[in-house]
Amino acid sequence: QASNALRPSASVSASEAIELADIDWDNLGFGLQPTDYMYFMKCDQGGTFSKGELKRFGNIELNPSAGVLNYGQGLFEGLKAYRKDDGNILLFRPEENALRMKTGAERMCMPSPSVEQFVEAVKDTVLANKRWIPPQGKGSLYIRPLLMGSGAVLGLAPAPEYTFLIYVSPVGNYFKEGLAPINLIVESELHRATPGGTGGVKTIGNYAAVLKAQSAAKAKGYSDVLYLDCVHKRYLEEVSSCNIFVVKGNVISTPSIKGTILPGITRKSIIDVARSQGFEVEERLVAVDELLEADEVFCTGTAVVVSPVGSITYLGEKKSYGDGVGAVSQQLYTGLTRLQMGLAEDNMNWTVEL
Ligand code: COI
Repeated sequence: QASNALRPSASVSASEAIELADIDWDNLGFGLQPTDYMYFMKCDQGGTFSKGELKRFGNIELNPSAGVLNYGQGLFEGLKAYRKDDGNILLFRPEENALRMKTGAERMCMPSPSVEQFVEAVKDTVLANKRWIPPQGKGSLYIRPLLMGSGAVLGLAPAPEYTFLIYVSPVGNYFKEGLAPINLIVESELHRATPGGTGGVKTIGNYAAVLKAQSAAKAKGYSDVLYLDCVHKRYLEEVSSCNIFVVKGNVISTPSIKGTILPGITRKSIIDVARSQGFEVEERLVAVDELLEADEVFCTGTAVVVSPVGSITYLGEKKSYGDGVGAVSQQLYTGLTRLQMGLAEDNMNWTVEL
C-alpha cells in the first residue's frame, strides 16, 4: 500500500460507476477505456510542484494559448501495473520513468515533479483505479503520465505554468496482430529524429512526426515503420513506438542511445534479461543491410512489450523471418513478462508491489 496514499476527492457512487461488466477481458486491445480517476498536479510560478489530487477522469480545461497547444511543450511517459495471482499489484520500474521524465523536462525547458512525487502519484492513481487492472494474464493497466506547459504564452518562450497529470487504461496487445509477428517497412525519406534534436526524449512532437509515414505504411498493409538515421540513411533507428533488436546467432544487437533513439525502459530491461540468459548484447550502429543476415528481429516497448517481427521490406525487397514467433523473441518475452507479473523471482528488484 502506498504510504500516505491520496484519497480520491469524490468516491465512485454506484450510479456513476463505469460498468466493468461490459469489458471483454479476453479481447483487450490498446485503446482508451476511461477509468475512475486521474491525478492532477500544477506547479507554482517558481516551478515547484507541491500538492496533487485525484479527480474524476474527464476532460481538462486549457487556455487556447497554453504552451503545449501552441509550441508543443509536452512530454509523456508510459508504464504498466500488473495484477499478481495473489491479487496484489506490481508496478514495473516506475523510478525509471520518473528519471526519464526529468531528463526530458530539462531538454524541453520544463520543471518536473521529483522522482518521489512521480512514483507516489503513480501509486495513488493505480490504487484509485485498482478495479480496472485486468485479471492476471489478460493484460495490464497502462499508466500514462503527462507533463505539459499549461500556462498561456503567445511569444515563443517556456510557458509560465505546468501541469502534471496521470491517467490509466486497461490494455491488451498493442498491435492488432496480437503476439503474432508484425510486418515492418523501412522508411528512407521521412525521419523520426535528427542529431541535436529531441528524438532521445519522450516529447509529444516525436510521435506526431511519425504519423505520416505510419499511416502510409498501414494503408499498404504493414504494421509499422522502421526509421533510418537521417545523416547516412543507412543505420537503424527505431520503430514509431518502440525500439528494435536484431538477432544473429548468440549475439543480439540494438542501436546505441546517442540522442536520436528513445532510451526505452523495456529496451534496457531486455538487454539485462538477455545477458542473464547467456546472450551477448551489443549496443552499436546497426546497418540496415544486417537485416538481411539476421536470424530474428524483434521490437521492445512498454506498450508493445516484446513484439516479434515477421518481415521487413526495404526498397521493395521483403525479408521474412520464418512463420511463427522466433525462439529468442519468445524466450525474452517469457523472461520479462514472468518478472512483470510476479511469476518469477525478481532478482533485479525491478518491481514495486502495492
Ligand atoms: C509506450 O510504449 O509506452 C509508448 O509510449 C509508445 C506509445 C506510442 C504507445
